[in-house]
Amino acid sequence: MEDKKAVNKGIFEAEVLSNQQIRQCYYRLNLQFDAKGSRLFQNVTPGQFLELDLSRVSLPDASMIPAHLRDTAVKQILLRRPFSFSDVIVTPLSEGPCVKVEIMYCVLGPATVRMMSLKSGDRISVLGPLGNGFSIPQGLKQAVLLAGGMGSPPVLHLASHLKRHHPGCEITAFVGAKSCESLPFSVRIGDHKGLVLEEFEMLQVPSHIATDDGSAGYHGFVTDKVRHWLEDQSVAPDSGAVFACGPEPMLAGTARLANDFNLPCQISMERMMACGIGLCQSCAVEIKSDAGDTKYRLCCKDGPVFDANDVLFHKA
Ligand SMILES: Cc1cc2nc3c(=O)[nH]c(=O)nc-3n(C[C@H](O)[C@H](O)[C@H](O)COP(=O)(O)OP(=O)(O)OC[C@H]3O[C@@H](n4cnc5c(N)ncnc54)[C@H](O)[C@@H]3O)c2cc1C
Ligand code: FES
Repeated sequence: MEDKKAVNKGIFEAEVLSNQQIRQCYYRLNLQFDAKGSRLFQNVTPGQFLELDLSRVSLPDASMIPAHLRDTAVKQILLRRPFSFSDVIVTPLSEGPCVKVEIMYCVLGPATVRMMSLKSGDRISVLGPLGNGFSIPQGLKQAVLLAGGMGSPPVLHLASHLKRHHPGCEITAFVGAKSCESLPFSVRIGDHKGLVLEEFEMLQVPSHIATDDGSAGYHGFVTDKVRHWLEDQSVAPDSGAVFACGPEPMLAGTARLANDFNLPCQISMERMMACGIGLCQSCAVEIKSDAGDTKYRLCCKDGPVFDANDVLFHKA
């Protein structure tokens, strides 16, 4: 049988529209794809990803490079780097679709340091779309979204996708971070002195913050915040679902939580990825098998989104 995903991905060029710092180490990069990329990405789903070739992008001015990254920033970049999207806008034009993609990235190594220097008009090579995204169950009426750290962009994309394509679905978002400073979104002080996440506010999606050190929102893990919230709500298993992306311990906690409330749950897993297309086997995820033992699936090709019940977690 033909592999539909393999046929529907390719290498193409994107033009940088803008590249702005949101806060601390987080930036927002907006790209416009060429005709080939726009055709490939017109039906992309939240949770899918792309790979950027940043090997020919130069380093920013030394003063812009965070001090702790100055030594590693100079390393040569051999491999493309994977990124999800926080939004995808498809505009139908007479000559074909025009796709604009927003990527939120965190600066933490040689490739992401180089991304800081991208400016409007620059062109970069993109490979994608890759992987399998979140699938929206039929009749979904209540979506509970959990985002943690670098895993937040696809959750924001899922929120805007549900708003656009499933208007009857009630969405509540929960965002976890180590501290207020490391929240990956734009934050403002709301009417009642609580902090508001502007990206979710713009979508009219209610959002809740949890921080490990209590510097913003709930003091504790985001999964504990959601547990308290679910105890006060009635989310029906046949019309509600949990969707999450973040570090593995958070995903393991989310899987337990969803199980306790008998809710279906999809999680987007994080793995270091070399090829991104199922060739190098570097991104294995251990999955429970029907026979009672385990098998391996590739995060880049079979995921990154998996049913939470299927995954065997190693960092719980
Ligand atoms: C499917 C997928 C989607 C992603 N989406 C985003 C996104 O939307 N925004 C974003 O900022 N980042 C995202 N990432 C992570 C991003 O690919 C890495 O941050 C980037 O490759 C780092 O490159 P670098 O050269 O700057 O740093 P590197 O030197 O490659 O990495 C620096 C350190 O970051 C950690 N790290 C890097 N990649 C991963 C990973 N995949 N899982 C766990 N730890 C990692 C490691 O500890 C590593 O030592 C995604 C990764 C995957 C697999
Ligand atoms: S990254 Fe190479 S097989 Fe997944």
